Amino acid sequence: MEAATSAGPIPVRSRTIALVGLMGVGKSTVGRRLAKRLGLPFADGDIEIESAAAMTVSDIFAELGESEFRAGEARVMKRLLEGPRMVLATGGGAILNPETRDLLRDRAVTVWMRADLETVAQRVQRRDTRPLLRGRDPLTALTAMAEVRYPVYATADLTVDVTGGAHAQAVEAIVEALEAHFAAHEPEVRA
Ligand code: S3P
Repeated sequence: MEAATSAGPIPVRSRTIALVGLMGVGKSTVGRRLAKRLGLPFADGDIEIESAAAMTVSDIFAELGESEFRAGEARVMKRLLEGPRMVLATGGGAILNPETRDLLRDRAVTVWMRADLETVAQRVQRRDTRPLLRGRDPLTALTAMAEVRYPVYATADLTVDVTGGAHAQAVEAIVEALEAHFAAHEPEVRA
């Protein structure tokens, strides 16, 4: 049986919109624009972790190790998901934590931003801020990651393919998917 989070499920239209998916798919950039489009506040999980720890993600991995990073990430996700409605760009590994996954299930509409792996591999090469890719061929590393993570990302409420399109297109595709989701789940509610 799935454990309920302390607060329990909340109505679909009151939920935070949480973007999930691999690093490099554009969760942060699209999330910021989506928040503006919907008139909601925006938070980026990685930035919140960095400000809570007063260290960069790279330094947390290097100095404290991945397990400390993951523990901090789970605390930050809990605080954000128990707070007011927002658009939340989650770090690519956040949804793998079972407690975070339960909170996302009960308190967020989750959107898996999916793009083909070649596209993602090209995008992540532009910056060297991702410890899990350091010193590795990006396509090989992302392919291995996808194998483990795609079954988890696939549990998201919505999947939006963002391969090839501009960020503005991704925003519109997500808005459309959200509207259909809200209408299907709470059809009688009028804004
Ligand atoms: C990670 C993704 C990163 C960051 C950290 C670990 C992951 O976030 O949290 O480097 O495990 O996929 P982005 O998905 O925002 O790049």
